[in-house]
Amino acid sequence: MSSAYLQCIEEACGHRQEKDAVACADCGGLLELVCEFDPFDPDGMRRIWHQRRLSGEPIDRSGVWRFRELLPFVRPGERIVSLSEGSTPLVGTRRAGWWAGPVHLTIKHQGNNPTGSFKDLGMTACITRAASKGVRIVACASTGNTSSSMAAYAGRAGLRAVLFVPYKQISSAKLAQALDFGALVLEVGDTFDQAFCLLREVAPSLGMYLVNSVNPFRIEGQKTIVAELMEQRAWRPPDFIVVPGGNLGNASAIGKGLRELKEFGFIEKVPRVVVVQAAGANPFYRTLTAQSPDLIPVENPSTEATAIRIGRPANWKKARRVLEWTNGMCESVTDEEIFEAKRVLAEDGVGCEPASAATVAGVRKLVRSGKIERHADVVAILTGHQLKDTEYVMRHRPPSEEDRQRLRVEPTLGAVREALTRHL
Ligand code: F0G
Repeated sequence: MSSAYLQCIEEACGHRQEKDAVACADCGGLLELVCEFDPFDPDGMRRIWHQRRLSGEPIDRSGVWRFRELLPFVRPGERIVSLSEGSTPLVGTRRAGWWAGPVHLTIKHQGNNPTGSFKDLGMTACITRAASKGVRIVACASTGNTSSSMAAYAGRAGLRAVLFVPYKQISSAKLAQALDFGALVLEVGDTFDQAFCLLREVAPSLGMYLVNSVNPFRIEGQKTIVAELMEQRAWRPPDFIVVPGGNLGNASAIGKGLRELKEFGFIEKVPRVVVVQAAGANPFYRTLTAQSPDLIPVENPSTEATAIRIGRPANWKKARRVLEWTNGMCESVTDEEIFEAKRVLAEDGVGCEPASAATVAGVRKLVRSGKIERHADVVAILTGHQLKDTEYVMRHRPPSEEDRQRLRVEPTLGAVREALTRHL
């Protein structure tokens, strides 16, 4: 039977850890779940995964648990805390692909998850784990999406949820979600990094189980996105998979997923993973560009893409490893470039929050610099729903467009007719 254990990723350490934790007890390094799988018959497995799509069972309807053979830490019969996450659409683009390249650009829209972001994939795995270990209080620091997701899944599992968020730095939609799900919200510090640093320090002594993406079980849930993506593409990998980079959990998860799929013969080719950061919050980009062995943090990260306003990404070493494995790249884009990309996506009818649009802005930049070839097959992971940050949209409406697009009219036929004649 397949099994799994936690191990430190630092080569010089490699400590195997018995108890759930978010850092190695020996050296403080990042932990990962090493999965020892029974040999897979890829064709047979693909058929089983595919057939489960027709099943009415909640565990089969989830886009995470449908691939449960890749998650060998849950025993058969164990309670799964799921909201039918995953199974998100893969949609083609025309204008955005043309604008960004031209490239063959497809969007994997993770905003179509129960709480509106990709975090739900990791959260179902992590909260399932926490509940199975008898945890009572879960906690995370967040720029808003992890917190809404954790609040939802914790509520479902009957656990208390405590959120650490930077004061007045997360969108009100995300805050409203967390409050709606009944979480306790502590607004601490001015940045995600401060909130996260404090939480890491105090969580153990206050009996809180940390569910940030340094928790290896989050990464396990999130890695299933690549199985779903490959299945949607008839197991033909794209040339590039592009993600926005904040705390760098997603890039780490996608890399782990790709590695496992390749190792077991589900895919032949490994797509190159591209991480895109906002220019005002681009520590990973700086670190890689300088070829620095240590992280070059950004002390006061600033970007309107608040989801990725992070100066000290906790998972940077895992993400660096992923770029090495996949011959990947990191790019940095300005808030103006993010805005443009978001606008072009909207023309294709694809809405997303600003952080997600950074992917398409990054693709455009990389095509222009010749690092992505024209007409390449590119999948951009849009991480969050359009309604996650409507303040951003309203703030960016140019007055000229407001005058043309949003009109107050008298409730008469004549006034409506005139508005249509002048503005349609
Ligand atoms: N996109 C969105 C919409 C996010 O919310 C995040 C991270 C990212 C991209 C970056 O992903 O951290 O795995 O590199 N949000 C976290 C949060 C930090 O607290 O919601 P990452």
